[in-house]
Amino acid sequence: MRYLSLILLIVLFGCSESKVERPDAEQEASSPLIHSFADPSKAVVTHLNWNAHVDFDNQKIVATATYDMLVAADAERLKLDIRNLNIKAIRVDGAETKEWWIGPEKPFLGQELAIAITPESKQVSIDYETTEGAEALQWLNPQQTAGKEKPFLFTQSQAILARTWIPSQDSPGVRYTYEATVSVPKDLLAVMSASNPVQIDTTGVYTFQMNQPIPSYLMALSVGDLRFAEIGERTGVYAEPSILDAAAYEFEDMQKMLEAAEAIYGRYAWDRYDVLVLPPSFPFGGMENPRLTFATPTILAGDKSLTALVAHELAHSWSGNLVTNSTWNDFWLNEGFTVYFERRIMESVYGKDYANMLAILGKQDLDHTLVEFADTPDDTKLKLALDGRNPDDGMSDIAYEKGYLLLRTMEESVGREEFDAFLNKHFSDNAFKTIDTETFLENLKADLFGSSDEAYDALMVDQWVYEPGIPSNCVSVESPLFAQVENEMTKWLEGSPAMEIDSSNWTTHHWLHFLRRLPRDIQQDKMMELDRAFGFTSTGNSEIAAEWFVLSISVGYEAVNEEVEAFLISVGRRKFLVPIYRALIEAEPEMVRAKAIYQKARPNYHSVSTNTLDDMLQLN
Ligand code: BES
Ligand code: ZN
Repeated sequence: MRYLSLILLIVLFGCSESKVERPDAEQEASSPLIHSFADPSKAVVTHLNWNAHVDFDNQKIVATATYDMLVAADAERLKLDIRNLNIKAIRVDGAETKEWWIGPEKPFLGQELAIAITPESKQVSIDYETTEGAEALQWLNPQQTAGKEKPFLFTQSQAILARTWIPSQDSPGVRYTYEATVSVPKDLLAVMSASNPVQIDTTGVYTFQMNQPIPSYLMALSVGDLRFAEIGERTGVYAEPSILDAAAYEFEDMQKMLEAAEAIYGRYAWDRYDVLVLPPSFPFGGMENPRLTFATPTILAGDKSLTALVAHELAHSWSGNLVTNSTWNDFWLNEGFTVYFERRIMESVYGKDYANMLAILGKQDLDHTLVEFADTPDDTKLKLALDGRNPDDGMSDIAYEKGYLLLRTMEESVGREEFDAFLNKHFSDNAFKTIDTETFLENLKADLFGSSDEAYDALMVDQWVYEPGIPSNCVSVESPLFAQVENEMTKWLEGSPAMEIDSSNWTTHHWLHFLRRLPRDIQQDKMMELDRAFGFTSTGNSEIAAEWFVLSISVGYEAVNEEVEAFLISVGRRKFLVPIYRALIEAEPEMVRAKAIYQKARPNYHSVSTNTLDDMLQLN
């Protein structure tokens, strides 16, 4: 019996060295934050010194994290979030302590790490290692890189994966500065969301500084055979040697974007803005890691047509990184504002027509999502209720595109000048702070509507934020450019040859609109005719390819089969994978083909993508 309970304790509290039972175990889950065990009102991390060794042979990071803290007069513990970490030793102000406890494992949240401190404590140091369960990390073998010769590592911390590689107060509400010393194989370069080296150092040791306080979800590291190319005075690109030139060409307008952004919402707060182009398994289009956006190589279209993504991640330097959503329930304050700002940057650099095409395509995505979420209308509110859920499950186009439409509706109602003045004040008043939806709405009422309830109510703001669906006062966005696309399509559908479609001035976005508008019962010979005329099956443009593949699969146009499989095996961007696999499953509910491809492709995907796809393909 005694042994049994001992074993139970070990199972519950992990195989750590901690032998003392936690005194306040019954008070667990007392954190005031959602998605975090931390209680920053008692002890809050203000600075992190991270000393790490990246061990490719064993696919782990061995590190010491040293935290400076601010401690309340009645503080007894520093509480951190950890998940699948192997904690080895802990010191408080330099002296080793055994007074620390690891709480029970909670799905997707991981575990609480509580360390006994006193109100006088200043610093806590943790020796630990990552494990195979570090979902933020993706370790790539050489075959999975562009160069095929050297391994690669990258992290993805948003939303709550930072805790899988660094013990963290892993809530957007806690900000800290950091410095790091990272040792890596001597022929590789390490970069972080911080000041970065511009070339490989043969010692294999790199140091980093992030002097502006950031939340943990913006912690980022990548290690690989990387080179740097300058684009403008404050902008540049990191990529593997074989794609560096292509990347530098694609992002040529980055400096212009940065200057356009500053002209709209004020000084860029992070000194440099660089982009890192990752291998194709990166699960997102982009991630706004401060000073160094992480990006998918699928935006290297060769014609700069997919660089709105760079404008988007750059815009996060204000909305998100400077003024941060206080919990993931307020995610729209990050993403909705960022989509709005992204389109303002695109308008400024490429004109109104271009920005409006993006807005219309975004609205089409939103309409899709609204249909998809018909049974879960609560997830179509801007203010989310993700407590007790994996935040990743609730983050959708709603925050992005409904958020965008609310801001654009406000802009058109009060006029751009007033709206910009309001947003400028919003960014400067809240710089390096977090904000929740309620505070934002109060500020909005006071600063944009002169505290007038009538003006505020007339815009139906509360309905936008707290009710499902799209309110009736939503602006409608139209584009004469897309009207021309629709005309050309009608002529073609009525029998005029594909070669006569007047597409001489069409961009990627015209084509996306064209493909999305094609009737879903289109005949095989029409598909073939289009393919012959425009070569969609073998296009190098990932957005067009993904759209074409989904259509082809659903109408049974089999000429795409090989390319679909090759695409799914090489690309790990979830936004493309989900609709393509979904089309495969709809076309063949037994999933024989989908599962066969997935089996080959899965080793190339990051956990963010496999978590979604395992469910879809019923691998759980
Ligand atoms: N911050 C997001 C990515 C993200 C969101 C990661 C939620 C984890 C959880 C990033 O800024 C983003 O929105 N990326 C988009 C691109 C964009 C152009 C809409 C993407 O990856 O598709
Ligand atoms: Zn974003």
